[in-house]
Amino acid sequence: MVDYGLIIKQMESLAEVSSECIPVMANTAALLFSEMPDINWAGFYLVKEGSLLLGPFQGKVACVRIEKGKGVCGSAWEEDRIQLVPDVHVFAGHIACDSASRSEIVIPLHKGGEVAAVLDIDSPLFSRFDERDRKGLKELAETLEKIIQWDG
Ligand code: SME
Repeated sequence: MVDYGLIIKQMESLAEVSSECIPVMANTAALLFSEMPDINWAGFYLVKEGSLLLGPFQGKVACVRIEKGKGVCGSAWEEDRIQLVPDVHVFAGHIACDSASRSEIVIPLHKGGEVAAVLDIDSPLFSRFDERDRKGLKELAETLEKIIQWDG
């Protein structure tokens, strides 16, 4: 079982050095990628000029820009809610960056009440993510919202 509390503590401690967006997101992607079993991608997309732009991540190369409402990430942004997708093949409009991906979870991150970024995690297993992951990652995202110096 993933210890989200520990990941959050490590994230906070690393952010003491710099709370600028890029280093915080880069280290968070690295922590999640190394600590979560059975995942093949972990990273961020940032809202920029009306679409989602690829941010720090770990995993295979990914699509650079995602429009609002498109794919799992664009839906999480548009609907402003966590998307937990047990089987990406039955999610209408799923964007396949890595053909190995089978399930996915996307968590929106807010700045001033608006979605400013999304955290996306993919797995090569069906139904990899459950309610514990949703709860742990929601807490992690809320911590990120507080510690990130968004304009840095
Ligand atoms: N599958 C995502 C696209 C991003 S990659 O998984 C890294 C989506 O449907 O939005």
